[in-house]
Amino acid sequence: MVFYGWLASDYITEHDSFLLALYLFTYMKIAIIFSSLYGNTRRLAEVMARALSSEDVKLLDVKEAKLSDLLGLDLLFFGSPTHGGRPQPVAQEFLDQISSNSLSGIMVAAFDTRFEASNQTLALRWLMKIIGYASPKINKILKEKGGKSVVPPIGFIVTGKEGVILDGEEARAIKWSLDAYQLTKSLFKNN
Ligand SMILES: Cc1cc2nc3c(=O)[nH]c(=O)nc-3n(C[C@H](O)[C@H](O)[C@H](O)COP(=O)(O)O)c2cc1C
Repeated sequence: MVFYGWLASDYITEHDSFLLALYLFTYMKIAIIFSSLYGNTRRLAEVMARALSSEDVKLLDVKEAKLSDLLGLDLLFFGSPTHGGRPQPVAQEFLDQISSNSLSGIMVAAFDTRFEASNQTLALRWLMKIIGYASPKINKILKEKGGKSVVPPIGFIVTGKEGVILDGEEARAIKWSLDAYQLTKSLFKNN
């Protein structure tokens, strides 16, 4: 509110314009869009948002996200729980609505949450291997829409359907998100 009032005022000084330009050009625009049924994927998205909070980060539940939230981004994280080897339907619906090439110029990074395969029966392990996981599928779609994959897609383990996040996975999520951020920064610097 204050910011818009300030923008609309007749009194933007050269100094103010300089500060605005500095803000627009130095902060990386990042969105973390996630879906989550039981809260674990949300929790990991929140942890990543906190790790990246020195930048301009939008954390968005896919149910509230709009296609316009993708405009002008430098880096897009997209995460979903794995459901039947795929993204949760609500995440898939959002991905399907993104039009071709609208992610060009945007670095993308896909993550999911999933069961730990080694805790499952042999039959279930075999099935999980066949049907795969959400994040490679999300990554493929983001690339098809023009995004450039900046880090390999990743899965984080929850201990059951409703889960708790396995020990150490939050730290792994922080490291992965910071890697994506640093790589994006270095790619932009070199272009
Ligand atoms: C309907 C349904 C299907 C699922 N299918 C899989 C699956 O194919 N592979 C897997 O590793 N986990 C599967 N899970 C476990 C989810 O990945 C787990 O519930 C999820 O990571 C929890 O994240 P959330 O708290 O953000 O919803 C499934 C869970 C549900 C509810």
